[in-house]
Amino acid sequence: MSCVIHADNITFSYANGINVLSGLSLRVHEGEKVGVIGTSGAGKTTLFWHLNGLLRPVSGNIKVLERPLSEHKNINEVRRHVALTFQQVNDQLFCSSVWDEIAFGPRNLGWTKKQIQDTVERWLVYFGLTEVSQRPPQHLSGGQKRTVALAAAMAMEPDLLILDEPANDLDHRQRRRMITYLKGLQIAFMIATHDLRLIMESTERCILMDKGKIVADRPTVELLRNEKILEKYEMEALKM
Ligand SMILES: Nc1ncnc2c1ncn2[C@@H]1O[C@H](COP(=O)(O)OP(=O)(O)OP(=O)(O)O)[C@@H](O)[C@H]1O
Ligand SMILES: [Mg+2]
Repeated sequence: MSCVIHADNITFSYANGINVLSGLSLRVHEGEKVGVIGTSGAGKTTLFWHLNGLLRPVSGNIKVLERPLSEHKNINEVRRHVALTFQQVNDQLFCSSVWDEIAFGPRNLGWTKKQIQDTVERWLVYFGLTEVSQRPPQHLSGGQKRTVALAAAMAMEPDLLILDEPANDLDHRQRRRMITYLKGLQIAFMIATHDLRLIMESTERCILMDKGKIVADRPTVELLRNEKILEKYEMEALKM
């Protein structure tokens, strides 16, 4: 099975010089569904921002679809393969309408008008956003913004979908819809969240991060029930 992402011994620090990623290595294969957990500040978001080229490692290498990030023509080419939704959803939405926000990726990829129209309509209906399709995303509720960001990422049909705290602000119905969608997805995805039930329901593999390192990488069911490991890293095991 081919590797969608291969991070090899990556290290990163922000301006203050403290290592936030410390020699982290990770492979994600085609179609794999991976949860990423760890306490606040463990480095989940920082790792995600490396995987589609928003941040560059200080040392180490990242390959997307077996090619080093530096060999991809430009950042848009990387993002067509690796779509990321931000933890801070307000940083992500910039178009003047929900419709345009979802159409943005497909337009950039040069799809035909008909393909764009069909895709946007499909996602509007799927997430119950049809009524707000002409409104500026910035004026929507937190949950609506989150679903617009999800729809916009999914509309690009990437090889890897990276979701950073995707269920924040979602109501019960939207959360269930997202989980149903994720379960049916053929492509690989990674989800960082403190919502361990979401990870349990939607992934088969789970990575535990601590201080910029991967300290456990196991089948989800096994890791989320492992009190010993989770308590060691200040997390609570999932009781079933
Ligand atoms: N722009 C920044 N400048 C300096 N330090 C930062 C910046 N962004 C994050 N950090 C620091 O990097 C570390 C990792 O942060 P990151 O956001 O990757 O953690 P996280 O695991 O995603 O946490 P959370 O669960 O709260 O989302 C933290 O110590 C954080 O304070
Ligand atoms: Mg984060």
